[in-house]
Amino acid sequence: MKVLKTSDELQLVTSKLKETKRVGFVPTMGALHDGHAALVKECAENSDITIASIFVNPTQFNDKDDFHNYPRTLVEDKHLLKTAGCDLLFFPETAEIYGDEVGFDYDFKGLDARFEGEHRPGHFLGVVRVVKRLFELVQPHAAFFGKKDFQQLMIIRQMTEVFEFDVEIVSCDTVRESSGLAMSSRNKRLSDQEKNESIVLHKSLSFCKNNWAQLTPRELFAKVASDIGATMELEYFSFADAKTLKEINNWGDAEHVVALTAAKIGEVRLIDNMEIF
Ligand code: PAF
Repeated sequence: MKVLKTSDELQLVTSKLKETKRVGFVPTMGALHDGHAALVKECAENSDITIASIFVNPTQFNDKDDFHNYPRTLVEDKHLLKTAGCDLLFFPETAEIYGDEVGFDYDFKGLDARFEGEHRPGHFLGVVRVVKRLFELVQPHAAFFGKKDFQQLMIIRQMTEVFEFDVEIVSCDTVRESSGLAMSSRNKRLSDQEKNESIVLHKSLSFCKNNWAQLTPRELFAKVASDIGATMELEYFSFADAKTLKEINNWGDAEHVVALTAAKIGEVRLIDNMEIF
């Protein structure tokens, strides 16, 4: 696996490659786990060349400590990427990404109004800035993102349209531990007990998926809020239209509904979601 650190080197390689090869791209912030490996494998199966990036993007952290404490595990990450089928890793410094950035206004059209957008002010603008820049440099035919970050996935689809990138956005299912806990770089910071207790998020989402026809959104919320609240600090658990991310109060309000949740256990904040119907 080749490793490139500068935008110039990367652009030189990718502009040649894309003429004859289908280029697939997996952007990451490192601290990789099996969920990332699944994205890289899916990318490798559907592309001639698989490019991944590792860049801990400062502009998407609304909390400086969170940025500084974010795990940096380059040696392990390289091994995982290579094993999963990555051909080229882009590993830039901040100046390579933001040095030449031309400022722009961005209208999320409400997609960022609730959930992560509400609880992490500025987070999604940081995501849009970095993914836009990475798409300009890598010029992929397809880019792969996990459904675990459901709101991010929708915003990246929107951003791809707004800036008219000719990039297919491929969404991949959330990879879970055998307990149901969604894979996340933050799971490394959980004690065994916290890990066990966090399973309640997946149990609650599954309960909603299995019982929505019998119970109203309000009844389901009452049940899961009490279950999650027993061991975790619940930030939100909501049902939303899977197309607009507007919150719904009746099942008839949307054709497809997704349940989204975030909760803290100790110092660790976890998110998860599930398509209900
Ligand atoms: O999902 C992530 O890891 C990040 O938000 C992304 C898409 C790599 C942008 O920094």
